[in-house]
Amino acid sequence: MSRNLIVAANWKLNKGPADATAFLDAFVPKVEAFAGSAEIVIAAPFVTIPSVVAQLAGNSRIAVAAQNCSEQESGAFTGEVSAAMLKEVGAQYIITGHSERRSIYGESDATINAKNKAILAQGLKPIFCIGETLEEREGGKLESVLRTQITDGLKDIDSLENIVIAYEPVWAIGTGVTATAEQAQDTQQFVRSVIAELYNQETADAVQIQYGGSVKPGNAGELLGQQDIDGALVGGAALEADSFFGILENSAQ
Ligand code: PGA
Repeated sequence: MSRNLIVAANWKLNKGPADATAFLDAFVPKVEAFAGSAEIVIAAPFVTIPSVVAQLAGNSRIAVAAQNCSEQESGAFTGEVSAAMLKEVGAQYIITGHSERRSIYGESDATINAKNKAILAQGLKPIFCIGETLEEREGGKLESVLRTQITDGLKDIDSLENIVIAYEPVWAIGTGVTATAEQAQDTQQFVRSVIAELYNQETADAVQIQYGGSVKPGNAGELLGQQDIDGALVGGAALEADSFFGILENSAQ
């Protein structure tokens, strides 16, 4: 089964509108001259999304994502932003379950599940992140941790048609340590097998599973060449147009 690649930049707490404009001024012409078929996504901070959407108007190759949203629709939730608001300003994807949200902001699997549902209810697409810590992997808990994150995060969600999964081993995020292509492939194959158990083989064969964690131009080709790796979620190496484009170029199918 061939799945299209989806390569996403996660800018995290970086790039206000001015920096984003400079990035796109450099990045968009490269993409326009590039024949690869990967879908490209830019996950920008909330306040940067409108200017990125405006600058990409008419560009069908690059979609815009938010990095988080509220699980609530509206009401007395100071400081929150809803999926509907993000839809209104032109976001198409929203990252959920990122390990920084899980560990720094204490998001539970139940909260992440509620966010996934709120996003799907708006017709937007979650990029749903899962991943184990080094302690969990070394303690033999890799499969049980991932199984719980997947089962609870996708609870009561009937179709994965609009969901992208991102496997990001916590120990590889922002550390410069990448999972080997073999480790990533083995784990992603396991993730796909859990999806087959929870849904069915057809769903498992169709769902896109990204790898994330210190992806760079130099390792993208090998990682994204693996059978069960359908793209990348990129933090540090997506802050510069040249290196983010280098990842796309090196992963071209
Ligand atoms: P990194 O971040 O590429 O800097 O490791 C990936 C992520 O957190 O999504």
